[in-house]
Amino acid sequence: MEMLGIVGVAAGAVAIPLAAVSTATSVAAISQGTSAQQAGAQGGGGAEPKDDPRLAKFSLRASCDAAGKHLDGKIVVLRNRKLYLDDSDPAHRTFDDGHPFSGFYLDYPDAKALGLVSTISKDPPELNWIYADNDTLELKYGNKTASKDHIHAPWDWTDDQGALMLEDWEGFVALEESPGVWSVNYDQDEDHLQEIHGKTRCVVEISLQRRVLKQPGS
Ligand SMILES: *[C@@H]1O[C@H](CO)[C@@H](O)[C@H](O)[C@H]1NC(C)=O
Ligand SMILES: *[C@@H]1O[C@H](CO)[C@@H](O)[C@H](O)[C@H]1NC(C)=O
Repeated sequence: MEMLGIVGVAAGAVAIPLAAVSTATSVAAISQGTSAQQAGAQGGGGAEPKDDPRLAKFSLRASCDAAGKHLDGKIVVLRNRKLYLDDSDPAHRTFDDGHPFSGFYLDYPDAKALGLVSTISKDPPELNWIYADNDTLELKYGNKTASKDHIHAPWDWTDDQGALMLEDWEGFVALEESPGVWSVNYDQDEDHLQEIHGKTRCVVEISLQRRVLKQPGS
């Protein structure tokens, strides 16, 4: 089902339950921007996100210990095909092209594991898969073709549902690409990315805290 990762999805369509999303007809409905209300009216029933907390949309905020104090509270934004940290206050953003992460968990096609999607712009609210690049370990967003040969699952939450996990742990770090520009990376080898960058980059451990966004109309 190639189109699943790239369809233009109306904001309301996030409420379509996982079971429905895996059928071709529903995917077609999503790509036509079917709203949650419409999906419910068409007999889907139980299409409210609160029925399946995995479908609740959330933003992501970095939480760091003393070593990363200056990054604590920054939010994850999507730009330039990658995930970066930026100020939570729009008036103090570093990037004017960043789109705040706004995503939810969704079965990754054929993987039998949870993937993670986010809108990539406000309008249209198109969804992309979030994945870690197999070679650079940078967190990126892209369609299914772009994500399928990389680390695209399993995404999860911690026991208290408060923080994001990939491959069953919170192995995220921020890496200073250039002065003041911090990308979000997956420290798969638990070496602060030294195998990739040596000791040339500043790397800080971060936890990515989920903040469930208020659904329109709820
Ligand atoms: C998927 O994304 C890639 C870029 O990563 C692009 O070249 C390709 O055309 C996209 N595929 C579809 C079906 O849109
Ligand atoms: C991704 O990396 C793993 C080892 O970490 C390797 O086994 C796998 O073949 C790689 N996949 C691609 C598409 O490079």
